[in-house]
Amino acid sequence: MSKIEVKNIYKIFGKNPGKWIDAVKQGISKEELLAKSGHTLGLKDISLSIEEGSIHVIMGLSGSGKSTLIRHFNRLIEPTAGHILVDDTDVVTLGRKDLEKFRQKTMSMVFQRFGLLPHKTVLDNAAYGLSIQGMSKTDAHDKGRYWLDQVGLAGFENQYPHQLSGGMQQRVGLARALATDADILLMDEAFSALDPLIRREMQNQLLELQAKLNKTIVFITHDLDEALRLGNRIAILKDGELIQEGTPEDILLSPDNEYVAAFLQDVNRGKALNASHAVNAPRLTLTMRARPAHAIERMKQYDYKFAPVLDGKAFAGLLRLSAAEDAVRAGLRDISSKVEEARTVSADTNLDAVLTHMLQSTAPVVVTGDNDEFVGLMSRARVVELVSPAIEGGNGDGSRDVDGNATATQTPAAPASATTERDDTPEPPEGAIELDESLKNKPEKAPGH
Ligand SMILES: Nc1ncnc2c1ncn2[C@@H]1O[C@H](COP(=O)(O)OP(=O)(O)O)[C@@H](O)[C@H]1O
Ligand SMILES: [Mg+2]
Repeated sequence: MSKIEVKNIYKIFGKNPGKWIDAVKQGISKEELLAKSGHTLGLKDISLSIEEGSIHVIMGLSGSGKSTLIRHFNRLIEPTAGHILVDDTDVVTLGRKDLEKFRQKTMSMVFQRFGLLPHKTVLDNAAYGLSIQGMSKTDAHDKGRYWLDQVGLAGFENQYPHQLSGGMQQRVGLARALATDADILLMDEAFSALDPLIRREMQNQLLELQAKLNKTIVFITHDLDEALRLGNRIAILKDGELIQEGTPEDILLSPDNEYVAAFLQDVNRGKALNASHAVNAPRLTLTMRARPAHAIERMKQYDYKFAPVLDGKAFAGLLRLSAAEDAVRAGLRDISSKVEEARTVSADTNLDAVLTHMLQSTAPVVVTGDNDEFVGLMSRARVVELVSPAIEGGNGDGSRDVDGNATATQTPAAPASATTERDDTPEPPEGAIELDESLKNKPEKAPGH
């Protein structure tokens, strides 16, 4: 369900914005508007749907309009045109009294420069939003103490802001925002002033808190790694325009335009993407009860040297073709006793860690989800392509060539169609030889599992 609906917001800064709105709607550029009228185009036709309980990141370079946009949400800025619906209330039409209540109860804000009151104690700062709402000092302090504890600052209540490090000060800012119980948290570059290590700790803490609290968080950053790490969805602004909006994967895997692609160049893809992005959907799976002869028939049909075996939805292991043939010779009723353990990684393992697995062993790697559910076989070529797209020569569908070639050259047993028809082909041909090797060396379970 959407918590915040931004509908066609325009913001023009200057003496007479109304006079220029039509020109902006007709497409006058930011530079042209400034040159002609002295007005600054802050936002142009922004529409955005922010889901309840999600972290929605707004990203863009300095001056792209991020702060302008977020300040519309609690109407610290009035739009030149457009509407903002929060829980179906149009913020733009709220009267003064209602607006005041709305600001106190529905949203709280965390600022880049912490915004703490220097002459008040940590506890008074944490309780500040509650005091403003008229809560008694005792109750406000109880609540402030609780939230300071939640952000890891128990014991610091009587200190003053200047006695704390930057990261700790921002924790006070976070505690203050959380203490009001507002459903919506607006965070404007809240972690941007912090050192990288502290920043990462704060990101972790935010994610941990969010797992418990399920707030709707609008998080502004100019840092793509931070955006990819925190955002359920990301909106990218450029010169006041929304140029792409989507999940981190959408944005990373299919940038809409050159600008976004350029942004993505330096991103740590190995951390931002995970094993689920490098899975080949299985064409063939077997059950533990499969008859050996049937298993052989199926594997030969696909020209596979092994097949994944499932027990219900869970991954049980791999069956080699030669093991299935042994089973037939031994007159076994099913394949269950011939299934062998394989390396697994969970779907949320980031690609950096997956790469480590790949370097440790050439055995096939199986990707599993919750409760060991079988997701698919990992594509080595896809991992390499995703982590460093530049290496692949970047000719759009290079993946197929590289993958196909790799399969064809390494594996004589690869089907002739491997190069043309490999979209949903798991990589048994590649793994087929390697599995035998790995089995000699006793496959270990992946440590990340
Ligand atoms: N009060 C204002 N008056 C005039 N121009 C403004 C005002 N606030 C912001 N702007 C302009 O609007 C654009 C967006 O600014 P801002 O939202 O602060 O960007 P960001 O937060 O992405 O760095 C910039 O060109 C900025 O100069
Ligand atoms: Mg800003």
